[in-house]
Amino acid sequence: MEFIEYPDREMMMIDLGNKLAGEIKNCLLNHEWSSFAVPGGTTPGPVFDVLCAADLDWSRVHIMLTDERWVPEDHERSNTRLLRERLLVDRAADAKYIPLYAKADTPEDVLPELEAVIAPELPLSVVLLGMGADMHTASLFPGADRLQDAMADNAPILMPMRAPGAPEPRVTLTARVLKDAMSKHILITGTEKRAALERARHMSLSDAPVAAILSGAQVHWAE
Ligand code: 6PG
Repeated sequence: MEFIEYPDREMMMIDLGNKLAGEIKNCLLNHEWSSFAVPGGTTPGPVFDVLCAADLDWSRVHIMLTDERWVPEDHERSNTRLLRERLLVDRAADAKYIPLYAKADTPEDVLPELEAVIAPELPLSVVLLGMGADMHTASLFPGADRLQDAMADNAPILMPMRAPGAPEPRVTLTARVLKDAMSKHILITGTEKRAALERARHMSLSDAPVAAILSGAQVHWAE
């Protein structure tokens, strides 16, 4: 793991946005398309604002979420909504969006069809992840009902997840899909998350699921 500390959040968001755009561009030099997975939540919006204006062939970029909350796409907690408002705009409006949500009461009802669309995208070219102070990443939450299944080496692509720390059911890319990405970045802010990340390095995967994807990842931090 490489830890990169920035003087402030604004500089981090700009630098990281440019770095991700550069990695996607490089990938497109040798591949027909580039698959790019991003988190929802409250942190990545400013990175999306930088990225969406990047000068690259977005029509060959396939964008998906690392995890989704099982709420309609127009719900205020929908990560898809965040992407549609902040990332799939400007130049990036040409990107292809790969959904992690479909209209259904539960994720289990539509999992096979969601997985079928993601399968040809693997391994992912570039992954950006967030992390909670409880050391979850994507929707791999400590104490979640299917955490062990989602951490297994032979896990499927997606796992439905219900967790005490999550107000609604989730669907998440599993740990092996995230680990196998060609490039991994974790974006965190604030002293609480920095301390949590340090602790996670020495903890079990069930208590600190983020530890599963630290190897080979770049962690980007600003206070
Ligand atoms: C989600 C995310 C999740 C997020 C962390 C950090 O849907 O909540 O994808 O994994 O990255 O919970 O969230 P914040 O950036 O809001 O702290």
